[in-house]
Amino acid sequence: MFSADRRLFLRQAGTAGLACSANLVFGRVLSAQMRASNSAEPSRIFIDSRRTTAPLDRNLFGSFLEHLGRAIHEGIYDPPSKLSDSNGFRKDVLDEVKKLGVPIVRYPEGNFVSGYNWLDGVGPQQDRPRVLDKAWNSLESNQFGTNEFMAWCKVVGTEPLMGLNLGTGTPERAAALVEYCNVEKGTQWSELRRKHGFAVPYNVRRWCLGNEMDGPWQIGHMTASEYGLKAQDAARQIRYVDPSLQLIACGSSGPLMPTYLEWDREVPEQCYDYVDALSLHRYFGNTPDETGGNSEKYVALNLTMDRQIAETLAVCDLVRGHKRSPKKLWLSFDEWNVWYRERSGPAVNGNRQEAPHLLEEVYNLEDALLVGGLIITLLRNADRVKIACLAQLINVIAPIMTNATGLFRQTIYYPYSWALQFARGRVLNLLVQSPTYEVLHMDPVPYLDAAGTLNPEIGQTSLFILNRDLSKAREIEIVWEDNPGTRVLASWVLTGNDLKAVNSFEAPQNVQPKPFDKPATRGGRTKFEVPPRSYTLLQWSS
Ligand code: AHR
Repeated sequence: MFSADRRLFLRQAGTAGLACSANLVFGRVLSAQMRASNSAEPSRIFIDSRRTTAPLDRNLFGSFLEHLGRAIHEGIYDPPSKLSDSNGFRKDVLDEVKKLGVPIVRYPEGNFVSGYNWLDGVGPQQDRPRVLDKAWNSLESNQFGTNEFMAWCKVVGTEPLMGLNLGTGTPERAAALVEYCNVEKGTQWSELRRKHGFAVPYNVRRWCLGNEMDGPWQIGHMTASEYGLKAQDAARQIRYVDPSLQLIACGSSGPLMPTYLEWDREVPEQCYDYVDALSLHRYFGNTPDETGGNSEKYVALNLTMDRQIAETLAVCDLVRGHKRSPKKLWLSFDEWNVWYRERSGPAVNGNRQEAPHLLEEVYNLEDALLVGGLIITLLRNADRVKIACLAQLINVIAPIMTNATGLFRQTIYYPYSWALQFARGRVLNLLVQSPTYEVLHMDPVPYLDAAGTLNPEIGQTSLFILNRDLSKAREIEIVWEDNPGTRVLASWVLTGNDLKAVNSFEAPQNVQPKPFDKPATRGGRTKFEVPPRSYTLLQWSS
C-alpha cells in the first residue's frame, strides 16, 4: 500500500461515518473573540501588553525535509549542479533557507522513515546501497544521510528534529542512532561515527518516536497500545543514552482518523512518563469533501485546527489526571500545510525512479491566506504547541521550488516568512471583535482573525491579520489598552483580485506582498482598512 492510499483511506473513513467532521466549533477561539452583531460594523482588536499567553518558542515555525520526490535530491542536495557547493548543497537553496531563518527542520521522517535503515545512509558514500523506498515506490541512493544532514543544518543555522524508525525499526536500533549522534566516544555507535570522520558529537536535542503510526498506510502500522508500548521501550532505551532529550510520541494523523482521540489517549497511557510531547498532523484542501469548493469556508479552516489542538490537549490532560502526573505534555504539530491537488496517482508514486516529481503542489492566493490563518492559530496556541513544522520545505508541498537553473517562491512562502521574521518575544492574548458570516457546518465565522506578539525588550509589537471577507475591505480599530504602538516599522499586505493566482518559474512575482499604507495612531487607537481577501502584517515600536 503506497502512502498515496492515505487520502483514499480517509475518504472511506469519512463516508463510513467513522470520523467526526472537521468543521464544527472553534474551541478556544470563541472564548477569545466577541462577535460584533452587525456585519458592517468595524472590527476591533484590543491589545494589552500585560496580557500575554506564553513566550514564543520559535520552533513553532519549523519545517520538514523528507526523502521524498525532489526534496533532498535536486532540492537541497545536487552534487552535479553548477549551483552546488563542494558538499553538493545547492547554494541558492542554502541562501534562501538562511534568509528565512528556519529554526528547526524535521528529518528524514514522514512515511519514508518507517522503512529507513539509517545505517544505509552513513559511512563511505561509494559503499552505500541503492534501495527501494517502499513508502513512495522510489529509488533511494542513500548518498545523503545523517552526517550530510547535520552538515547542512550547520551551514543553514538550523536545528535538526530527528525522526526514528519505529515501523520496521527496533527500539534498540533507534537508541543506536541517538548514540551515534550524541555520545562523544567509547561506545560501539559513537566509535562508528568517529570512524566515519565525525569526531564531535551532534548533540541532537529533539527526537520523534516514529511517524503516523496510527495510519494503515504506514509501514509497520500498529494499534495504539502496541505503539504506545514500543514508544515507551524506545524512549526508555534512548534515555539511558541521554536522559536530557525531548521525545515526541506519535499522536493522530488527523481528526478524520477513525481512532482520533482514542489513539491520543491510549498512546500516552502507555508512555506518558517517558515522553515530553505528542504529535499532531493535518493537511487542508479546498475539496468537495472538505469545503464543497467554497473559498469562504476554505479560508476559515484554521479554526478547525484550533479545535484539533484543543481536543488533543484535553485527552493528554485526561491521561495526566489518570496518572496524577505533575508533568504536562506539550504538542508538536510536526506536519501541517495545504495539500490536496497532488495527492493521488502519479503524484505519489515514484515508479522506482530516483528523485521523481512527487507532491509538487502549486499554491495559489487562497492557499496562502489559509496558511496565514494557520499561523494565527499556531500563535494562539503557543502556550502548549511548542514545535510545529510546515510540511515541507523544498519542492514537495513546499514554499520553495527548484529547477536546474534556479528557484522561485510559492504564495505560501510569504505568510511563513513573515511569521519567522516578525513574530518575536511573547504571544499577545488579543481580544478580537469581528462581525461574522455563515458557512455550512461551521459556527459563525469571524471575518477578521488576528494574532500578535510583543517583544518587551525592544518594545516591538507585531500583528498578523487575516481578512476572510472575499469581496469587501474591512475597517479595523486597534485599541491599545496601554503602551500604544507609535511608529510603524513594517507594514505589508498579501492580496490580489484572483484567489486562484499562482507563482511559477515563468511568473515568479505574480502573487507577492505589497507595501501597506502605514496607519496613524491617535489617542491610543489606530484605524485602518484591510483589503478584501488579504493577509496583513503590521509591526510597531512603542
Ligand atoms: O508530508 C507528506 C506525507 O504526509 C508524510 O510522508 C506523511 O507523514 C504524511 O502522511
